[in-house]
Amino acid sequence: MNGKNLFGNDRKRGLVAPSILSADFARLGEQVEKVEEAGAELLHLDVMDGHFVDNITFGPPLVKSVRRSTHLFLDCHLMIEEPLRYAKAFVDAGADLITIHAEVFGDLLEPMRRIRSLGVRSGVSLNPDTPLDRVEAALDECDLLLLMSVFPGFGGQIFCPEVLEKIETASKIRNDRGLEFAIQIDGGVDAANAEMLTRLGGDILVAGSAVFSNDDPAGAFRSIEAAAAQGIR
Ligand code: DX5
Ligand code: ZN
Repeated sequence: MNGKNLFGNDRKRGLVAPSILSADFARLGEQVEKVEEAGAELLHLDVMDGHFVDNITFGPPLVKSVRRSTHLFLDCHLMIEEPLRYAKAFVDAGADLITIHAEVFGDLLEPMRRIRSLGVRSGVSLNPDTPLDRVEAALDECDLLLLMSVFPGFGGQIFCPEVLEKIETASKIRNDRGLEFAIQIDGGVDAANAEMLTRLGGDILVAGSAVFSNDDPAGAFRSIEAAAAQGIR
């Protein structure tokens, strides 16, 4: 996955990134294998510190174990207060993309540059109530813009439709400025809303509970991906 943008020169659209947050951690290798066999190209890893969000998940050791068990692109979503303090540890553990939250920074240009200087892709995330103009000045340094469609912290929440307008606006800004960042949507994504999200301009849809709370994660992954593909025709 090298090249000018996240996945090479042709921006891929309609990808589903399974989030392991809803997986059975005691059977993680097996669950990752299922979605990989179903065609997943990336895996979304939700890191929470109990400060930026009201929940704690995992740190670099788990990322390192996942790295050893798969060749998938590892997308690390850092919902933590001091992402730059820990970014290198996640890169050393095998992350391919580090996404930080705009809410913990004033100026974003330097943080995004710092992430790229670690040799990985840079992502910036916005909570549902954080306006797009917070990141506009830093978009040249971003490989990915993550638009949260729930307030971060937990899987299985209801999709907030307020994000829809933001997706359209972000997509327009990208076209107007000739930029290549990928637009990712995270929270409450399922087979019922995936088509609408890619139609509006979403490239990568994160799906946690819709994949791993299903008895058949591979089948669930395929149906979300099929729905996402409908939106880009
Ligand atoms: C929420 C996380 C999400 C979460 C999504 O804070 O950032 O990635 O795993 O879970 P679902 O798909 O269940 O809403
Ligand atoms: Zn996430």
